Amino acid sequence: MKEVVVSGIRSTGKLHLGNYFGAVKNFLQLQEDFDSYFFIADYHSLTTHPNPTDLQGSGKRVLAEYIALGLDPEKCSIYFQSDVPETAELYLFLTMNAYLGELERVASFKEKARTQPNNINAGLLNYPILMAADILLHKGVKVPVGKDQAQHLEMARTFANRFNRLYNCNYFPEPQAFSFDGILIKVPGLSGAGKMSKSTGDADAIYLDDEATHLEKKIMRAVSDSGAMGMNTPKSQAVQNLFDLMALVCDPDVILQFDNDHKAGTIRYGDLKKQLAADMEIFIAPLRDKIQTILANEKHLNEIAKYGAEKARISAQKTLREVREIIGFRTN
Ligand code: TYM
Repeated sequence: MKEVVVSGIRSTGKLHLGNYFGAVKNFLQLQEDFDSYFFIADYHSLTTHPNPTDLQGSGKRVLAEYIALGLDPEKCSIYFQSDVPETAELYLFLTMNAYLGELERVASFKEKARTQPNNINAGLLNYPILMAADILLHKGVKVPVGKDQAQHLEMARTFANRFNRLYNCNYFPEPQAFSFDGILIKVPGLSGAGKMSKSTGDADAIYLDDEATHLEKKIMRAVSDSGAMGMNTPKSQAVQNLFDLMALVCDPDVILQFDNDHKAGTIRYGDLKKQLAADMEIFIAPLRDKIQTILANEKHLNEIAKYGAEKARISAQKTLREVREIIGFRTN
């Protein structure tokens, strides 16, 4: 039997470069050799209270992006989380042995509680439980994610093991965060600070459908160094971020040249950013065009979603039948 791979992306806007390199790039390879489930986490997106139009629009968008980037509905199951209601039932079961203290200690929850004090809803607190349900629903073992999700994966392991202990069984496997090179990546944003994210605004993120001129403008405005520079001055965080972004799309020889210039204290950040913008455009242009084409074909997208949900529900229903039996519910 093939190992099961499960992963998702929240439908809270367009995909950015961090989503691509943290998740989708691995999805593309995994769909070839594993039993893979890739979904659009639209239940998760409700923590930010989108209106119905936005909820639908961003879900459709992520689906179109999945297809444009190369996910193949015949090779994997691509579905909307909300089309597989077994997710919600497993989530309910898992909430019963998840504890307040451990949920309150999750870094992403603490961060949200700090940045959005007026909307600290229970969905945010329970976010890692819903994620665990997504994964355990298919008994997933490999979970392709970026570094920011590592703690959530740890929680999923905790919930899986706790269920097994409580019911004295060995039902759920331990899911592991996965990337092909074994390193969970963190793609930085353009603001010189943290990771690229959907919530830090357009100037910080590189979207997979950014228009060429807009993309260039954003990169040219990215934070770099302003202070005086000597030989062998260590790279500031902002400069390191630019080098990290170059590593994703530029030729290694070109990066080496800029690195040497940095060591020599002769680097010109304007030139570095021009190079980064040019190579980023080469990377993004074909994706941008494909996304637009696929997004326009609503009928095709609806068919893919329906087909994916049917496939995903076969495995989801089997799991829920077994879980209900383990817990002790009447089965029929
Ligand atoms: P989300 O939508 O924030 O991000 C989707 C995927 O993209 C990765 N990612 C990044 N990787 C590297 N650098 C970055 N700057 C960056 N930003 C985002 C994330 O690590 C993730 O892999 N909770 C998840 C969605 C989810 C899920 C799941 C994932 C729901 N259920 C079950 C795996 C398994 C999330 O919010 O991802």
